[in-house]
Amino acid sequence: MDLNTAQFRGRHVFVAGGSSGINFGIAQAFARAGARLSLISRSADKLASAVAQLETLGAEAIGLPADVRQPEALTAAYTQAVARFGAIDVLVSGAAGNFLAQALDMSPNAFKTVVDIDLLGSFNVVRLAHAHLRQPGACVIQISASQAFTPTPYQAHVCAAKAGVDMLTRVLALEWGAQGIRINSIVPGPIADTEGLRRLAPGDAALQAMAERVPLKRLGRIEDIARMAMLLASDWGSYITGTVIPVDGGLSLTGPRDFTAAAEASQRGRG
Ligand code: HXC
Ligand code: NAP
Repeated sequence: MDLNTAQFRGRHVFVAGGSSGINFGIAQAFARAGARLSLISRSADKLASAVAQLETLGAEAIGLPADVRQPEALTAAYTQAVARFGAIDVLVSGAAGNFLAQALDMSPNAFKTVVDIDLLGSFNVVRLAHAHLRQPGACVIQISASQAFTPTPYQAHVCAAKAGVDMLTRVLALEWGAQGIRINSIVPGPIADTEGLRRLAPGDAALQAMAERVPLKRLGRIEDIARMAMLLASDWGSYITGTVIPVDGGLSLTGPRDFTAAAEASQRGRG
């Protein structure tokens, strides 16, 4: 028995950070199933290109420039999106930023920047969406990272922020469950052809070493994450809330990674 993707036809899927990478891949998967897509991110150009690609799949889509650190911009985006496509059935919160640096090499503003995007930004995205979510029935998906539970040198900011994201998932599952709103975190592994992995494993040798570390011996595909998002949003996921689900080929079982070489390479690029 296959997952019945016809259930997403006409559904409103709102993707924060949806203009590229994993989040855009999730948007494409729902678009192929006939959903209507609202995307937000900072760059109007990236959004225009993403929307054009979704339209070639036959989907209705809009792109609304908004920074998740700016609540007013988010509120405006929700108002426009809901006016066009109605209450939100599926909300994906995946906007994030990252760079490699040891804590001693981070200014307070460097640490704060990632916490503001990943954690406070996720709070803004899900909190301000609440009034626009379909009740009952909405499904919220937060995109986390294994840094949430694996202490990782050069990633103090991401570790702290994503751990907060997952705890927000658990708390809101309790607070919003009675309203028929489900919320879960997906924890992607190292996903090929993404900005996130380019920053952590620059170059073919680093990518190969990362793939070798994964118990299933391959990098993840964007499709691996999109399929989990669809499962959670579907009737098959209707009793799942408050969970944090690694989709990582087992990588999160293997302990901290050593990003020293990658960090030195990225610092040379920065300087
Ligand atoms: C130390 C750094 C730094 C670095 C930036 N900063 N890069 N500090 N080492 N390599 C500091 C700056 O000096 C500044 O502090 C502060 O961070 C803010 O920098 P801005 O450039 O002004 O911030 P902003 O324009 O808001 O850009 C945010 C960003 C940027 C995170 C720095 O890289 C970005 O927009 N990224 C989005 C795309 C992205 O990262 N995608 C990957 C997501 S993957 P001062 O003190 O000088 O003011 C992910 C991880 C998951 O999230 C795991 C993957 C496997
Ligand atoms: P990506 O392509 O850089 O995706 C990040 C998205 O967020 C972009 O669309 C970006 O667009 C948007 N964004 C960034 N800052 C924003 C802000 N302040 N306000 C609004 N939008 C913002 O990276 P990715 O690798 O696919 O990562 C996607 C998600 O997966 C992230 O949550 C990341 O932590 C997670 N993840 C990735 C991996 C991996 O292997 N790639 C592994 C684990 C977890 P703009 O630039 O236009 O704003």
